[in-house]
Amino acid sequence: MTTMTSFPSWLQATSVAADRDASYLSVQGARKTYDTRNGQVHAVESADFDIDEGDFVSLVGPSGCGKSTLMSMIGGLETPSAGRIRVGGSPVTAPRRDFGYVFQDATLLPWKTVFDNVLFPIRTQKRPVADYLAEAERLLRLTDLWAFRDKRPSELSGGMRQRVAICRGLINDPQLLMMDEPFSALDAITRDDMNLALAQLWDQVHKTAVFITHSIREAVFLSDRVLVMNARPSRIVADIRVPFARPRRAEMQEEPLFNEICGFVRDKIHEGHGSRQPASA
Ligand SMILES: Nc1ncnc2c1ncn2[C@@H]1O[C@H](COP(=O)(O)OP(=O)(O)O)[C@@H](O)[C@H]1O
Ligand SMILES: [Mg+2]
Repeated sequence: MTTMTSFPSWLQATSVAADRDASYLSVQGARKTYDTRNGQVHAVESADFDIDEGDFVSLVGPSGCGKSTLMSMIGGLETPSAGRIRVGGSPVTAPRRDFGYVFQDATLLPWKTVFDNVLFPIRTQKRPVADYLAEAERLLRLTDLWAFRDKRPSELSGGMRQRVAICRGLINDPQLLMMDEPFSALDAITRDDMNLALAQLWDQVHKTAVFITHSIREAVFLSDRVLVMNARPSRIVADIRVPFARPRRAEMQEEPLFNEICGFVRDKIHEGHGSRQPASA
């Protein structure tokens, strides 16, 4: 079954801004080719899109299509083989202090408390920790972790550890937070809770976010826009504006339009991707 014919065209976003260099985040013809012992891997063929400041944008696509590579280029962790990336008016050439990162594995320091893990980037950046104590408290309260501030990571559940990692990613007040499958290792119920928690947090922090997931529903629930990548050689094959108001409520997932958008995203992922195994968690 395809939903494409009935899918309203007004939900499709314009990926590329009129004045590209003026947009907050601009990915212009970004390509990444890895040289390996077995030849070249074209991880990202060509990505072109702009993101407005304050938007929460998800990247979805089949495993191995280049999502993490694209995020690494945006975050300055990988250099594009071609094209260019600008954030906040300047080219990205290396990891930046106005960026925050959250990965699939929380990678907390086991011997440090929750509170000290959140403050860890401040210490490594040699900023005055005293200036960030109040912000650490604010973030831990927003994520319902304040009561656990003196615990070690081993004493927390997986969902709590990921919430600590998100607080740590936000502690230096980044303008752009990049999250690479932060909830993939969690069970389905915890993941639903985390989606709600992240949506609520976002209503408070008002940052720009690039969020990778292989869960279509998670992407649509959390995002202002969903960018769909196809299997390699990968490009952005759809860009959907999610029209639901904020704050986002769990009931939104029961609405026909929500399911229609999810169906459209699923179809786009499978177009040009031979098999039709489910891509969503
Ligand atoms: N450092 C690397 N060296 C060589 N190949 C890589 C490297 N990183 C990723 N790749 C390859 O690039 C492709 C895209 O990977 P990745 O960006 O991790 O995809 P995704 O995050 O969508 O699962 C894969 O085929 C992967 O094996
Ligand atoms: Mg990945």
